[in-house]
Amino acid sequence: MSAVPAARRRAPRILVVEDNAALRRGVARALAAVWGAADEEADAGEAVARIGDRHAEPYDLVVTDLRLPGGDGLDVLRAARERDTRTAVLMMTAHGTVETAVKAIQLGAFDFVQKPFELEELELRVEKALDHARLLDEVTTLRDERSERLGEERIIGDSPPLRAAVDMARRVAPTRSTILVTGETGTGKELVAGLVHSLSPRAAAPYVKVNCAALPETLLESELFGHERGAFTGADRTRIGRFEQADGGTLFLDEVGDMSSATQAKVLRVLQDGEFNRLGGTRALRSDVRIVAATNRDLEEAIGRGEFREDLYFRLNVIRIHLPPLRERAADVAALAHHFLAEFGRDLGRRRTGFSPAALERIRSHSWPGNIRELRNAIERAVLLSDGERIEVDNVALPERRRRSRGGGWRPELPEEGLALEEIERRVVLEALRRARWVQKDAAAFLGVSRRKLNYMIRRMEITHPSWRRNRGSLEGDADESADGATGGDGPDGVEAPGIR
Ligand SMILES: Nc1ncnc2c1ncn2[C@@H]1O[C@H](COP(=O)(O)OP(=O)(O)OP(=O)(O)O)[C@@H](O)[C@H]1O
Ligand SMILES: [Mg+2]
Repeated sequence: MSAVPAARRRAPRILVVEDNAALRRGVARALAAVWGAADEEADAGEAVARIGDRHAEPYDLVVTDLRLPGGDGLDVLRAARERDTRTAVLMMTAHGTVETAVKAIQLGAFDFVQKPFELEELELRVEKALDHARLLDEVTTLRDERSERLGEERIIGDSPPLRAAVDMARRVAPTRSTILVTGETGTGKELVAGLVHSLSPRAAAPYVKVNCAALPETLLESELFGHERGAFTGADRTRIGRFEQADGGTLFLDEVGDMSSATQAKVLRVLQDGEFNRLGGTRALRSDVRIVAATNRDLEEAIGRGEFREDLYFRLNVIRIHLPPLRERAADVAALAHHFLAEFGRDLGRRRTGFSPAALERIRSHSWPGNIRELRNAIERAVLLSDGERIEVDNVALPERRRRSRGGGWRPELPEEGLALEEIERRVVLEALRRARWVQKDAAAFLGVSRRKLNYMIRRMEITHPSWRRNRGSLEGDADESADGATGGDGPDGVEAPGIR
C-alpha cells in the first residue's frame, strides 16, 4: 500500500518537532484533535532520522521549531524536502529569528508562525499547508501512480485487522482458490472481492457479480446457470447464465448464505465437478471461473440450523477473509471520515477542509452498526448540511441509540432488479425468528404482531425449524412454548441480524 500518496488514502501524517515539552504536546494534541494523529520529536537529529525512515510513509506535514537540540529546524526542513517534496513544512519561530524563517521559506518551507501564537492560528496555517499538499499530491498521483493499484488505493485504513485482510487478499489473488469473504453489513466485502479480481491474473477477463439474496429460487438459478428456451413460463429464449459469462474470469457470489437448498446443491456441483446445466438443459456445461463468495450471515450457525449445506461451506471456505466491524478498528474511523469528506467535497462541489474537534469526537464515539457504509452516508449528509468549510458537530447527525427506536431509521436495502413483496415479508419473518432464537413468542413481540398471526404466517410460508418439531400438530401458541425450553429463551447477544437493520 505504500506507494499510494498518503493524503489521498487516510488522515494526514503529521510530525511536530519542538524541544519545549509542554508546547510540543499542546500543539500535537491540538492537531491530532482535528486531523487524527500527530507524531512528536524533541531533537533535530531524531526528527531527521524519523523523516528519513523508509519503512514509514512520508509525512504530509512537519511543524518544526527553529532552535533545537541536535541540530536546527533547517536540518529538519532539508530532510523533509529530500524525502518527499510534497511534504509541507511549517516553521515555528521565536521573536528575533524571523530572518531565519525567511531563509527557511526560501529553502522550501511552506509557511511560518511566530511564537507565541494562538492554537487557532496554527490550525489555520496547518489547514492551508495540508490543502496545498493535497493538491500537489493529486497532481503527482495523476502523473505517476495509476497502474496496478487501482483497486487497492480505494481501500482506506491502516488498522491491523484491515491490513491483515488486505494482505490476505493480495496474497491469494494470484491463485485460483475459492475465497469466502465474511463480515457485517457495510464492512467492505464487495470492495475486497473486487480487489481480489483486479490483482489476479484474471483481471482482464470478466468480473461478474450475482446477488444471491435478490432473487427467488428459479430466477436465481436461471441467473446463475442460464436456461434453455421453454424451460419455464416466460423463458422464450435461451439465456446464458453468469457462470458461462464469467468463463475465464471471476464470479462474485454475494450474500451466498441466502441461497435455497436446491440452489446450494447446484452450486456445490459446479465447485466439485466444474459442471452445471442450464435450466431445462440436458447438456453438462463447464466453465473456468474463480469464485469469490461473500456473506454477512454466520454460516456455521446456519449449518447448525440446517439452512446451509456443510459440504458447500467447506468448498467455499477454502480461504477465509474476515472484515471486522468498524467499531473494532477505531483507528480507521478518522481516516475514513477524512477520505469521504474529500470524496464528497469533490463530487458535490463543496470543498470541506476538516472537522471541528467536537464533530470528530462525535464521529469517533459512535458505534457504527452499519459500518463503513453508514459512515460514508453520514459524511455525505454532513457535507450537504454544512455551510462553512469545516464540518461542525451539528452537521453530524447520528442516531443516539439504535436499540430503543422502533425501527424509525430502518431502511431496507432493495436490489435494483426488484424483489417480490412476499419474499421481503418472508425474509423479515425469518430474520426476526433468527434473532429471537426461533422463539415465536419473542419474534412476534419483535415484529409487533400477535403470536397467532405470526404462527399463521409461518405456516403459510412453510417455515420450519428443528426446535419446533415436537409440536408439529398445533396451530398456534404452544409451539413457541416448547421452543422456549429448547433454546433457552432470551439472549439478545451473539445473534446478529445481517442485512436487516
Ligand atoms: N476500507 C474502505 N475504504 C474505503 N471505502 C470503503 C472501505 N470499506 C468499505 N468501503 C465503502 O463502504 C461501502 C460499503 O462497502 P461494501 O459494499 O463493500 O460492503 P459489504 O461488506 O459488501 O456490505 P453488505 O454486506 O451490506 O453488502 C462502499 O461504498 C465501499 O466502497
Ligand atoms: Mg455487499
